[in-house]
Amino acid sequence: MNKKPVIAIDGYSSCGKSTFAKAIAKQMGYLYIDSGAMYRAVALYGIRNKLVDGKTVQQAQLINQLDNIQIDFRKNMEGRYATFLNGENVEDEIRGVEISEHASNVSKIKEVRAKLVALQQAMGKNGGIVMDGRDIGTVVFPHAEIKIFMTASPEIRAQRRYDELKARGMEADYQEVLKNLQLRDLQDSTRTESPLKKADGAVVLDNSHMSPDDQMKWFRKQYSK
Ligand code: DC
Repeated sequence: MNKKPVIAIDGYSSCGKSTFAKAIAKQMGYLYIDSGAMYRAVALYGIRNKLVDGKTVQQAQLINQLDNIQIDFRKNMEGRYATFLNGENVEDEIRGVEISEHASNVSKIKEVRAKLVALQQAMGKNGGIVMDGRDIGTVVFPHAEIKIFMTASPEIRAQRRYDELKARGMEADYQEVLKNLQLRDLQDSTRTESPLKKADGAVVLDNSHMSPDDQMKWFRKQYSK
């Protein structure tokens, strides 16, 4: 039997990658993996273990403790996948603005990336997976059958992120969300280790003015050949 395809989706923060990736996974009957959640879980571990001080990460100590960090995805009571850090459901806790900043910082560390990339490759080794992130089409699955690079204007992305935080009952300020997002764009696309960039063979999707339904129509049209 042929291996099922891997679908790699990369792009800027808050441009709807996870909504799109989940919808594709549902339609195809594939597993969805949110690789950003794994960097967020490492950041949470760092905060809890006082390895993150203000804006700086105690890099050497975090690297030393990488073997103590176990991340996996398990179905919650409603049947949705949630992120688990060392056996604890941290799905809600990893979504705050503070964690976003620290996740961007820990994602610059080569050893952190090596650990998470290996885990991601193991999760996708049998195919039938949709994974979203920043380096999925470039580093994690450079031979993915389908690669999509998503983008949208910063203001539209900030509004979406703001709405998402509010919907989760979290405190949010639009200007702060926008500033945070622009900082992360800069960090994610200029870092030395696996910077965010369009992978060879990726198709660009600018969804600034598309609804989730429009995106699925685009996907079907693009890949129904
Ligand atoms: O997609 P997200 O916003 O949840 O990602 C959180 C941070 O992790 C983001 O700043 C970029 C980083 N990240 C990464 O470097 N590589 C990935 N494959 C996924 C996320």
